[in-house]
Amino acid sequence: MRDRASKKKLLVGALRHYAGETLFDRIGRAVCRAECVPRKELYESWEVARRVRRRLTGQRIVDLACGHGLVAQIMAILDDRATEVVGVDRKLPQSVKKVAASMAETWPHLASRVRFVQSKIERFELRADDLIVSAHACGKLTDIVLERAAEVGAQVAVLPCCSCHRHLDRGGLDGWLDGDMAIDVVRALRLRERGYEVWTQTIPEEITPKNRLLFGRPAAAPAVSD
Ligand SMILES: C[S@@+](CC[C@H](N)C(=O)[O-])C[C@H]1O[C@@H](n2cnc3c(N)ncnc32)[C@H](O)[C@@H]1O
Repeated sequence: MRDRASKKKLLVGALRHYAGETLFDRIGRAVCRAECVPRKELYESWEVARRVRRRLTGQRIVDLACGHGLVAQIMAILDDRATEVVGVDRKLPQSVKKVAASMAETWPHLASRVRFVQSKIERFELRADDLIVSAHACGKLTDIVLERAAEVGAQVAVLPCCSCHRHLDRGGLDGWLDGDMAIDVVRALRLRERGYEVWTQTIPEEITPKNRLLFGRPAAAPAVSD
């Protein structure tokens, strides 16, 4: 098995590793052709998107702090129930366009279904029927994502990132739990207090140690059906 945590960019030379006909292989080939995404990000985005697809849905999918936008692209492939997918980042990197162009070669409908907006999360208008996804929004940014989702009562899934402990709420639990874990437990409980049904999962640790996935659905929202 190749090192799935590698931060080396996937280039066309790696196409041979994604030679099969599975959906993941096809996505892998598109990412290799884009030549701008670290290998780790392919696996991370895939593991997050497919788990979110199983649990949550929305009229619109919004990937906050989207970076290269791969989570948004994969969500758009996996979830045809949403009418559009929007990636939001305060500074969209060049890789957004490269990934989008490469994905659209294989899935032409993505060009009209996925769009990207350069905006701070704090300013982007969210709606109750959105499904909000955010992978590795650093530190306090994950809390802003959860807060913004709860303000409008939208379904939400986050994969929290690095946590600078001094500033984030550990809820007094860090005598029992490691600091990052305490912060994530507080996040989950806070979401429950806001009237959300909450689930927790992990993606494989060999891809990233920041692997806790937190899902929240307002109690009134309908459960997922195909
Ligand atoms: C660690 S990257 C994660 C990118 C992507 N979600 C991923 O999984 O690879 C964090 C991203 O958050 C963005 N960001 C930081 N503060 C932001 C803010 N206030 N509003 C929107 N995006 C922000 C950065 O520009 C960066 O692209």
